[in-house]
Amino acid sequence: MATIASDIETSSIADGGLSMGHLALHYGTPEDGPAAARLLQIAGLTETQMLPLPGGNFYRFVVAKGHFGRGDGIVYLSCLPEPQQKLIAAIHAALRVGTGDEHEAVVAYRAMMAQDFEASFHFGFLVESLEELEKMVLTLRDLAENDPVFKGRLNIGMNRARRGDVAVDARLDASPVFGEATRYAYGSAGVQVFVETDLIRAGQLGENMYLEFDYVFPDRHSHILSVVEL
Ligand SMILES: [Fe+2]
Repeated sequence: MATIASDIETSSIADGGLSMGHLALHYGTPEDGPAAARLLQIAGLTETQMLPLPGGNFYRFVVAKGHFGRGDGIVYLSCLPEPQQKLIAAIHAALRVGTGDEHEAVVAYRAMMAQDFEASFHFGFLVESLEELEKMVLTLRDLAENDPVFKGRLNIGMNRARRGDVAVDARLDASPVFGEATRYAYGSAGVQVFVETDLIRAGQLGENMYLEFDYVFPDRHSHILSVVEL
């Protein structure tokens, strides 16, 4: 059963007085900016500003048009600042990242991420329509296979809902996307799509970003995002 931790003594902001504000993402080189921005547009975000800068475009996106003039629901996208590029390069050199002799900690980290897309830093969006989420996956798969800009730069994974809800199981079995999924979420009545891409640079090695897109079936009180099941 879900519980809500008591926050009476520790919270300085009243319930309802807080929302998710913004996420700052970075692409690796100025040339990657337009493709990274296109990926966010395909994922449903609306670009509200594009500021051309010598070191790479600066973009502002919102998750829904209602956030245009607000301070929440925002995703910023800009080029990695030079000091961070240098830090990543230094980490890579020290840990022999990308060579055949990577530090054992790098090998273990990669093994962990190969098992679970959301084991480390990632960001999740909630999608209202399963059909639109399926369409997004098909679009990204097509781009990853056929578009030179995206080829080799997207890795798409997914978890389907744990079995046990007849209607959910039937819908997902018939899905052009989730019907073939072999991985299961840590919960019921929802699905997760993961887009791993090096068009956006984040994570412990500064190599890629994991974006998550979830859908929750309506009228289920217990689902993947409300209760984690082991
Ligand atoms: Fe997640």
